[in-house]
Amino acid sequence: MGRVHAEGFAGYDNCELAALADVDEKRLNKVGEDLGVNALYTDPEKMIRDAKLDAVSIAVPNKFHCPLTLAAIDAGLHVLCEKPMAMNVAEAEKMNIAAQKAGKKLMINLSYRFQPTCQALKHQVDKGVIGPIYFGRTVWHRRRGMPGFGGWFGNKELAGGGPLIDLGVHRIDLALWLMGHPQPAAVSGSAYNIIAAAEAAKQQKTFTTEDLACGIVKFTNGATLLVEASWALNVNEEEHMTTELYGEKGGLVQRNIRGTYDWEAELYLEEDGLFFTKHVDKVTTPTPSAYVDFVDCIINNTTPSVTADEGIKVQKILDGLYKSAETGKEVRYE
Ligand SMILES: NC(=O)c1ccc[n+]([C@@H]2O[C@H](COP(=O)([O-])OP(=O)(O)OC[C@H]3O[C@@H](n4cnc5c(N)ncnc54)[C@H](O)[C@@H]3O)[C@@H](O)[C@H]2O)c1
Repeated sequence: MGRVHAEGFAGYDNCELAALADVDEKRLNKVGEDLGVNALYTDPEKMIRDAKLDAVSIAVPNKFHCPLTLAAIDAGLHVLCEKPMAMNVAEAEKMNIAAQKAGKKLMINLSYRFQPTCQALKHQVDKGVIGPIYFGRTVWHRRRGMPGFGGWFGNKELAGGGPLIDLGVHRIDLALWLMGHPQPAAVSGSAYNIIAAAEAAKQQKTFTTEDLACGIVKFTNGATLLVEASWALNVNEEEHMTTELYGEKGGLVQRNIRGTYDWEAELYLEEDGLFFTKHVDKVTTPTPSAYVDFVDCIINNTTPSVTADEGIKVQKILDGLYKSAETGKEVRYE
C-alpha cells in the first residue's frame, strides 16, 4: 500500500514526493528507483526527523501506525495514516490528542469514501432520498483470502486482529459515513478461527487472529447495523462486499460485482404505492483520491474528508466487537 500512496502523491502537482522509508531495503530501493526518489531511509523515524518534510503518509503494519504517527506529529508533520487507525481505541485517542495539541492534520485512509459509487450514494442520502436510516448490514467476505498467509496480517501482535480490523473496518466506516455517524450504544460479536487455523496447521504457519467475525451494533438513535467480515468462509464468491442500508423512505446497496473489484450501487424507493429501483450507471463528477484530499486540506487549512474522530468511532466498534467475542457478553458504551 505504501507504493500506492507514493504513486498517489507523485501524480499530484500540488505536492512533491520528497522521501521514502521502508525497513525492507530491497523494496525501498525498487520503489525509489521506479518513482525517481533519491532520499531513501531504512529507518522511518530518521526520515521523519531529517528529511525536512511537511507531511508523511504511514502505510506499514498496524502495530506501527500509532508510534510512527506520534513521532511524525512530534516532528511537526501532518499525517495520513492507513486504516485501521490503530491497534485499539487507546492508541487512536493518543494520536488524535497529539494532532490536536500540535495543530496538525491527521487523516485516516478509510479509502471507500473516495469510491465513486459510494460518493454517489452519499450524495443521495444527504439529499434525504432514503430518509433516516434505522437498519443495515455491512459485509466483506472472502472465500479464501488471508493476505500474506503466515505474515504480519495473521499475527495478532502486529495486526491487532484479523479480517474484522482489516476488511470490516472499511465496511463499518462506509456504513457509518452513510448513516451520518450515529453514536454506538452497544455491540455484541462473535469471532471464529476454523478454516484458517486448519490451513495454518497444515502449512506450519503462524495464524493467531480470527478468520471470521460477525456482530451487531446498536446506536443511541435506535439504529441497528449487522457486521460480517472474513478471510476464509465457505461462501460462493472469492470476494463478496456489500453494504445495505434501510431508511424510512428508501433503501440502498453498494456492492462488488460477481466477486470482482468492480462496483455497483442501487437505491430502492417507494412512491404512491409504486416501488422503484434506481441504479447508479455512471458517476461523472470527479472523485478526488485520499492523497489529493490530504494535500488539499493542508494547503487550504480545511478538515480532511476522513477525520481522526471518525477513525476513533470505527475503532470503538472494532474494539467492542473483539471484546464481546472474547467475553461472550454485550459491550455497552457510556
Ligand atoms: N486502504 C486500503 O485499501 C488498504 C489496502 C491495503 C493495505 N492497507 C493498510 O496498509 C498498511 C500496510 O499494508 P500492506 O498491505 O502494504 O502490507 P505489506 O506487508 O505489503 O507492506 C508493509 C511494508 O511496511 C514495511 N514495514 C514494516 N514495518 C515497518 C516499519 N516499522 N517502518 C517502516 N516500514 C515498515 C515492510 O517492509 C513492507 O514493505 C496496513 O495498515 C493495511 O491495513 C490499506
